[in-house]
Amino acid sequence: MIGIFDSGVGGMTVARAIEEVLPERSILYFGDVARTPYGSKSPATISRYAVQNCDFLLANGAKLIIVACNTAASVAGHLLQQQYEVPIMEVITPAVAQAVQASRSGRIGVIGTRATINSRIYEEEIRALNPGARVLSQACPLLVPLVEEGWLAKRETKMILRRYLHPLKVKGVDTLVLGCTHYPLLSHLIQPRMGRRVRVIDSSLAVAHKLKQYLDANPAVAGRLATGGERRYYVSDITEAAQKTAGRIFGRKMNLELAQVNK
Ligand code: DGL
Repeated sequence: MIGIFDSGVGGMTVARAIEEVLPERSILYFGDVARTPYGSKSPATISRYAVQNCDFLLANGAKLIIVACNTAASVAGHLLQQQYEVPIMEVITPAVAQAVQASRSGRIGVIGTRATINSRIYEEEIRALNPGARVLSQACPLLVPLVEEGWLAKRETKMILRRYLHPLKVKGVDTLVLGCTHYPLLSHLIQPRMGRRVRVIDSSLAVAHKLKQYLDANPAVAGRLATGGERRYYVSDITEAAQKTAGRIFGRKMNLELAQVNK
């Protein structure tokens, strides 16, 4: 199975894209709803959670893991790649590639959780591809709780977004990376706030296409993954808000299952 994890339901935006691009592949998802958000926690705690999530996915049949959480990838990506033998893919590299390709001016905005922005991983990776790029980053610690709560169109959410996006807007970015897998659920508010001329990058489809390319190039790994389109969506807490937001992401009623990973 393809194992996917996130701190909550946000990573389901990536899972949905994988369902679309690779419909025959079986998916095992874990969303750590009970411990979300990760982005305001320390790197040591985020790394511990990330390892527990991977152990859970591997124990339940994952043969490849997608870290569908920018926060976990930025803090613990290297650790996970060293610790596990299965291929570990993440969401940052595809977003960076898309952003560098899209930006004409080289002024690229990045929004993410505090942990992701503090890690400076986007800055490093964007500059590695375009040394002349100017990267303007903004931590948005209130957005993940708002999305997990399902506050996707509330006045308060719009006000908070205005506050976070204003500095990037006045600095004239022409591209904005949604550096958190929860943020595509707010893109209907983010795009109009930034204006039509700003390209907003949601990496979920790029991640799914990268996975497809990888499997085409690595038939041995692809052969170990189950086909048959089985889908299991586990969360560490089944809340009404999680169920509602999951249903909204997939456009169908989601049967979330409960799992504990911190034994
Ligand atoms: N979806 C996670 C990310 O991409 C959110 C992390 C959090 O829980 O703060 O960063």
